[in-house]
Amino acid sequence: MVKRRTCVFISGQGSNLKNLISCTRDNSFPIKISLVISNNDKAYGINYAKKYKIPYVIINTNYKNHDKNILFYLKKYKISFICLAGYMKIISSVIINKYPNKIINIHPSLLPKFKGLNTFSRMLKNKERKAGCTVHFVNNKLDSGTKIVQKKFYINISDDEFVLKNKTQKLEYKAFPEAIIKIFRNN
Ligand code: GRF
Repeated sequence: MVKRRTCVFISGQGSNLKNLISCTRDNSFPIKISLVISNNDKAYGINYAKKYKIPYVIINTNYKNHDKNILFYLKKYKISFICLAGYMKIISSVIINKYPNKIINIHPSLLPKFKGLNTFSRMLKNKERKAGCTVHFVNNKLDSGTKIVQKKFYINISDDEFVLKNKTQKLEYKAFPEAIIKIFRNN
C-alpha cells in the first residue's frame, strides 16, 4: 500500500499530531507524516516531530508571502495530503486551491455549531446539552467544509471548560484517524 505523503500543521500542544504519528505505525493506515509545519516556534508539538525524526519547519505567518513559503515546503516534501491539527491560522486560498479536497481540519465542536475560537466557554454560556468534535474538509469559509466524521458526548452539569476540552480531545483521537481511513478507503 502506498501511503500518502502528509503534512500536519500545528500551533501548540500537538497531541493530535502525536496520536496520528502512532497511527502511522500501522501498515494499513493510509498516510505517512512526511512533514510538520508550525507557525509557532514554541509549539510543544514540535518535540514530537523531533522525537520521531519527522522533518519540520517553522513558518512565521506574519510575513508577507508566507503562503508561498508554505507551498515551497509542501512541494519540496512532495506532500499530497494535509491535516490541520490545532493550527491556529487561516489557510490561504492559494494553498486551498492547490490542494482541493486534500486538506482536513479537526474542530472542537459539533459543527456547524460554534465555529471559530473559544468553543467551550460559548457552549457553557449557551447551556448546550451536547459537545463533541468534527473532522471536515477545509474550504475558503472558516470551519464550513464538508463533514467527514463527527463524534459527540452529553455534557454533565458539573463539566467546566477543562473537562469539556479533555472529553473532546479523547474523541478527537478517534475521529481524526477514522476520518483519514474513511477518505482513502476507496482510493
Ligand atoms: C484540538 O482540540 C483541536 O480541536 C483544535 O485545537 C486543539 C489542538 O490540540 N483545533 P493539540 O495541539 O492537537 O493538542
